Amino acid sequence: EDELHRIANLPKIELHLHFEGAAPPAFIRGLAKEKKVDISGIFNEDGSYAYRDFWHFLEVYEAATSVLKTPEDFARLCTALLEESARNGVVYCETFLSPDFCGGGDVTAWREYLHAIREAADAAERDMGITLRGIVTPIRHFGPEKAKRAARCAAETAGDWIVGLGMGGDEKQGRQRDFAYSFDMAREAGLRLTSHAGEWQGPSEVREAVEDLGVERIGHGVRAIGDLAVVDMLIEREITLEVCPGSNVFLGVFPSLKEHPIERLRERGVGVTVSTDDPPFFHTTMKDEYLGLAKAHRWDEEVFAMINRTALDAAFCDAATREAVL
Ligand code: ADE
Ligand code: ZN
Repeated sequence: EDELHRIANLPKIELHLHFEGAAPPAFIRGLAKEKKVDISGIFNEDGSYAYRDFWHFLEVYEAATSVLKTPEDFARLCTALLEESARNGVVYCETFLSPDFCGGGDVTAWREYLHAIREAADAAERDMGITLRGIVTPIRHFGPEKAKRAARCAAETAGDWIVGLGMGGDEKQGRQRDFAYSFDMAREAGLRLTSHAGEWQGPSEVREAVEDLGVERIGHGVRAIGDLAVVDMLIEREITLEVCPGSNVFLGVFPSLKEHPIERLRERGVGVTVSTDDPPFFHTTMKDEYLGLAKAHRWDEEVFAMINRTALDAAFCDAATREAVL
């Protein structure tokens, strides 16, 4: 009991958090009311987000995001999500942010959103000691042309705060290689690369993200477990997985935490890390993730210390920032 308490309170590194997906339903309802937009259809009677499966989740996600209109709205969300992360002991976090939702891919508009978000993040760092960095996120089911606009926004704002390009969205649409132009543009701008793969598609999707896009981390990647040659490729190339166990179980990728492959991947030697993905959508928090893994896989404090070391080593920020957080 005492050890579980200590585990829940460990300082945590989170590498995979969708900015809009971290918006609590009450926050979105409040904005909808202010702006007189009716999105009541996306909520259950108890106030939680209502969706049937992952693909419906993506629709509800976009409907919820539609009430986030101004840079100020995004700044308010930034403060709210960092308060929640700090309550969970998160000391360093990387968040996926889409220019598609922040000015529609226009670079000038994107800079304004980014400026407002950074101000909120800097204030949270001063007040709560939590550090945030941004990963620009092309959305796969919006297609390669919109991805290029997102990547251009990323390249134009690459630096100490925008640290990477990371594709999200429906991995059943198109191929990883359709987005190679965007990933090349980001790499040339000095950005680090990650892509969602192996959440819904099998091991070959994970291989394609590595071989066709040159990513050094994978969002999820857990279905690599279906082909040990792909697992060994991840080990050999030192690719880190951004694993979101609670998200996977809630969406039915795996039936339970006990059956989740995170422990098998870790034992074999893959660099695994732990994140929440979209916490209010999947009814999870970083404390819940840690407690669930401690119970399901008998992970002790030492294992979590290793997980956080792996996460910090794979973080996209500069070395000085990394050394300051743990
Ligand atoms: N966007 C938000 N959450 C996502 C997930 N788990 N997979 C793909 N795209 C997402
Ligand atoms: Zn994700």
